[in-house]
Amino acid sequence: MSTTGTDIHKAAEWLHKGELVAIPTETVYGLAANALNTKAVVKIFEAKNRPFFDPLICHTYHIDAINDYVKSVPDWAAQLYKYFAPGPLSVLLPKKSNIPDIVTSGLDTVAFRIPNQDMTLMLLQMVDFPLAAPSANPFGYISPTTAKHVDTLLGNHVPYILDGGTCNIGVESTIVGEEHGKITVYRLGGVSVEEIETMLGKVQIVSKSSVANAPGMLDSHYAPRKKMYIVSDLAQVETSENASILSFDKKYTTAKNLILSPNSDLSEAAQNLFSYLRMLDNDTSTNTIYTTLVPDTGIGKAINDRLVKASYKK
Ligand code: TXA
Ligand code: MG
Repeated sequence: MSTTGTDIHKAAEWLHKGELVAIPTETVYGLAANALNTKAVVKIFEAKNRPFFDPLICHTYHIDAINDYVKSVPDWAAQLYKYFAPGPLSVLLPKKSNIPDIVTSGLDTVAFRIPNQDMTLMLLQMVDFPLAAPSANPFGYISPTTAKHVDTLLGNHVPYILDGGTCNIGVESTIVGEEHGKITVYRLGGVSVEEIETMLGKVQIVSKSSVANAPGMLDSHYAPRKKMYIVSDLAQVETSENASILSFDKKYTTAKNLILSPNSDLSEAAQNLFSYLRMLDNDTSTNTIYTTLVPDTGIGKAINDRLVKASYKK
């Protein structure tokens, strides 16, 4: 059974012992272990029931700390870190041999990010190793944005949950790397493509990578157990007693309806997304969820990516 609390020293103690700790970040909660300790990292895969071919993201508190674990930080990456770290950005860099292969699923790159969450930054400074941390949810399910979410589904697997409140971005980090000389976005996330392009010029976006067969890139992910359908016009939905609507900014009076952002604010919608999906998934009177895509701009692209991957596939 896990304990939930705000004791950073206790969190560091568990990590030093090779145990798991759930950590708050600005994106989603992570399930963390000492990235340099293979046995500890195996516990992450076991707790999440995650396939070993899905690589983990490593977290540190400062760019200088990343240099100990990667062979080089190219200029474009240094530029991105300079503007977006700490923040919701993960960069794929050529790894040194001190990062165990299990962390990267045998790939020769490792993803590093500096989370923008005060407690976790303090924790990262307190330990002398990076933290490998995927989102703290069972594999394929909706990512957690509160300590309670972590406790509900992974409480039996993690001794300590560090409670940093609700995650204020709400969707995962943007993953950027270089493929055949092109700056490539592998996962849409908290830093928008537009922001990256302002700095680096046109980038390519791939949802299926040739460098990794990673489930973050699978067609189905972040998924509720209930069937969810994306429709173009929610007003047209034939709502039955057991259908619920997850809308962006409008209210549809015909059914149970959660509104991601009544003010049409995409950041607010991102912050509410996973919580609301969980609420509907846990609602005993909902069998089916109907939703619609949000404006496909800025963080809206990351929201739409999650909605598409969470929706029902035949
Ligand atoms: O916001 C986030 O990034 C959160 C918080 C906890 O930091 N973490 C997160 O981790 O979303 P996770 O495991 O749910 O997603 C990690 C994804 C993998 O599924 C894979 O797509 C990609 O990161 N990834 C990690 N290392 C990679 C590598 N070396 N090459 C290609 N993709 C990689
Ligand atoms: Mg995940």
